Amino acid sequence: MIPAPLVACNGAAIPDFGLGTWRLRDDVAAGMTEASLRLGVRHIDTARLYENEVAVGRGIRASGVPREQIFVTSKIPPGALKADAVRREAEASLRELDIGYLDLLLVHWPNASIPLKETLGAFAALKRRGLIRHIGVSNFTTKLIEEAVAACPEPIVTNQVEYHPYLDQSKVLAACRRHGMSLTAYSPLARGRIAEDATIRAIARAHNRTPAQVGLRWLVQQPDVIAIPRSSREGRLAENFGIHDFALAPEEMTRIASLAHPRGRDTDPAGWAPVWD
Ligand SMILES: NC(=O)c1ccc[n+]([C@@H]2O[C@H](COP(=O)([O-])OP(=O)(O)OC[C@H]3O[C@@H](n4cnc5c(N)ncnc54)[C@H](OP(=O)(O)O)[C@@H]3O)[C@@H](O)[C@H]2O)c1
Repeated sequence: MIPAPLVACNGAAIPDFGLGTWRLRDDVAAGMTEASLRLGVRHIDTARLYENEVAVGRGIRASGVPREQIFVTSKIPPGALKADAVRREAEASLRELDIGYLDLLLVHWPNASIPLKETLGAFAALKRRGLIRHIGVSNFTTKLIEEAVAACPEPIVTNQVEYHPYLDQSKVLAACRRHGMSLTAYSPLARGRIAEDATIRAIARAHNRTPAQVGLRWLVQQPDVIAIPRSSREGRLAENFGIHDFALAPEEMTRIASLAHPRGRDTDPAGWAPVWD
């Protein structure tokens, strides 16, 4: 398979394709991690909340791929963003993954009751200790990005947000670019919905590709965008990763972008979600 190009963002170099692991547990999480690495994927996305770090770590080690060739992301839950909790959760993440260091640690969801300065100061301390290489955020709006950039003593390399053809993220993407950050697209397949989309299916037929490949290609063809699709089926890994040997025409990119609509967002958890842009 063609290796994923690296996206440069504030000193980090992140493969533009990674394996999402939400809802993958135990042997499935370990097996999919190992299989994706054997195929050539070099970016794995997990989180404390996914409760699969032990399995993901097992998959990483079983793959035989040298640690330094893999970009591993984890996330601190919104209930653990005070300084001592950040330290405790990051240490637990590393203990469970057992991979020495994290390439990227994200604030999983914002928490308005804890000052960003305290949270991001604790992230910066982890970076100084060598436990994490880069700092990022997730589910941050344009307003929160500005606040985070101002509050963090270190550069912020990415904002991981929901992004797929049904959700317009142009404002958030512009804010990321303004600050030298990438945008990591979660639910890049709209949780599988794009596979049934008539427009995407027609474009896929024209390229002799699958709808998932066209949706993922549409994301990574945009500068500074990274996609992290999840699958629990090994048979789908090569399909999803096989997006670096074709290109969509500008007119196709525009047609896919026009599928966005105001109710396109899937993930909007009451209590955690900020007021979106
Ligand atoms: N930061 C956050 O708050 C946040 C929130 C949500 C997700 N994430 C991250 O983003 C990752 C991806 O997002 P997601 O898991 O929500 O959704 P997704 O990747 O958009 O979609 C996953 C779904 O699509 C199906 N699928 C996979 N490949 C396919 C293909 N080639 N054709 C048709 N269907 C396919 C999968 O089914 P099978 O398993 O049967 O293949 C699964 O049901 C997560 O795993 C997680 O790492 C982060």
